[in-house]
Amino acid sequence: MGRENFADRRFFIHTFGCQMNVHDSEQLANIMTEAGYEQTQDVRQAKIILVNTCSIRSKVAQKIVSQLGRYRRWKDKDPEVIIGVGGCLAQHWGRDMFTKTPYVDLVFGTHAFHEVPQLVDMVRAGHGPVMDTELREEIPSLGICTAGKNGNGKTKHHSLVTIMQGCDNFCTYCVVPYLRGRERSRPSAEIIREIEALVKQGIREITLLGQNVNSYGRGLPEETNFPKLLAMINDISELERIRFTTSHPKDLTGGLVNCFGRLKKLCEHIHLPFQAGSDRVLTRMNRGYTRKDYLERITALRQCCPDIAISADVMVGFPGETAYDFDATLALMEEVCFDNLFSFMYSEREGTVAVSFGEKVPEKERNRRLKILQELQDRHTWERNQALVGKDVDVLVDGASKNDPQELTGRTRTNKIVNFAGPPILRGKTVTLNITGAYLHSLRGELKSPAAINVHKSPEVILGRKSPEVILVQK
Ligand code: SAH
Ligand code: SF4
Ligand code: F3S
Repeated sequence: MGRENFADRRFFIHTFGCQMNVHDSEQLANIMTEAGYEQTQDVRQAKIILVNTCSIRSKVAQKIVSQLGRYRRWKDKDPEVIIGVGGCLAQHWGRDMFTKTPYVDLVFGTHAFHEVPQLVDMVRAGHGPVMDTELREEIPSLGICTAGKNGNGKTKHHSLVTIMQGCDNFCTYCVVPYLRGRERSRPSAEIIREIEALVKQGIREITLLGQNVNSYGRGLPEETNFPKLLAMINDISELERIRFTTSHPKDLTGGLVNCFGRLKKLCEHIHLPFQAGSDRVLTRMNRGYTRKDYLERITALRQCCPDIAISADVMVGFPGETAYDFDATLALMEEVCFDNLFSFMYSEREGTVAVSFGEKVPEKERNRRLKILQELQDRHTWERNQALVGKDVDVLVDGASKNDPQELTGRTRTNKIVNFAGPPILRGKTVTLNITGAYLHSLRGELKSPAAINVHKSPEVILGRKSPEVILVQK
């Protein structure tokens, strides 16, 4: 039976996991739409429920299984509903997905997103359950440009752009290299073409994505590297802001540090996971740098760009982490004073090297350490945010604030959220705000009066023109 025979072609995507997954889901939405399916944001209307999964920690996997259980009830009510599970957990569990969640019709791995329409057809034609978890040399969907078509239709001035896939680092705790395959960079010309297309659609800010973006270019036939790619992107006119995530401390070269001083569009923020503050733990994690290396890189970044915001990932309770090692992590935090920190309790993942490590830290102790660490970070985040009170900052306006639709919200170049009162017309524009308040998760600002706005388009809608670039708005 062909696809044409099915009247209801609506699909719903639920995404778990990192920004790479968010972007994969955007691409999946495009692939499905091009194959004649129609995306809905309301699961109750969908005949095809696609869950893009993550396997980074066991709690995340548990959460996904619970969610699948809820979708199962949906399917019980309507047997025509198809449930497809894709991405990292699907890749990890493979065929076991069908025994752990037997109501699932379709399992697609991290390299099979471009096959989903065909796999759905097979299920609908009665050939289910079906599975494709092959790890391929080339991933066809990598080249798909999501310009102007970001499934959720929300963030039209910000877009994610994949510059590389996979990971070759094999940190001993991490499943990603097994689930995403070997590291592959995209040719720079293809990336530039995608960003130019995005900018034409009104995108002003891009985030370059990869597990280790600063090793970009390795294995490509062209002579390139991450700083060269950034310089090329910086030359794209009408693009305002460039961000990237994630960078690995071992590959943070002087050339990349200098980019923060010389490339105007590169935002003053770096996410640089350190994972642990003790060399003994870093070695057991196979991270490839020492505490001293990490701190030297932070110093170099701050010398080059004094206002840079620094965020990181850190883990507590890695096997063999002693109270002394944990103190070294806290001391590193005191030394750096991060703007923001994503902290995790070590979670043992099947298939990784660390499974064989002795001296496991009991869960209660891991919890205790996490709590201490998070309290310290809250103090640092608060201090770093407080230091901005009274300063003027540029904010790219996202739109209405989540908590108060009468208010606007946006991000500073240092990636901090600022809420402020202003007209909705400012959405997608960069405004200068004076910071009047600082909290743990956001800042409060006031439009400078009259507000200076860097406007690229539609000047006619804004009051009182001053110069070709600067336009005034009455508060
Ligand atoms: N490629 C990125 C991170 C990808 S995973 C990098 O290397 O920085 C995001 C974060 O999840 C990691 O930085 C790490 O802090 C955390 N993480 C990964 N595996 C984990 C595990 N087994 N247990 C707990 N946290 C883990
Ligand atoms: Fe995992 Fe390490 Fe690769 Fe990051 S660099 S994805 S933590 S193996
Ligand atoms: Fe999770 Fe896969 Fe990202 S395991 S963190 S979704 S790369």
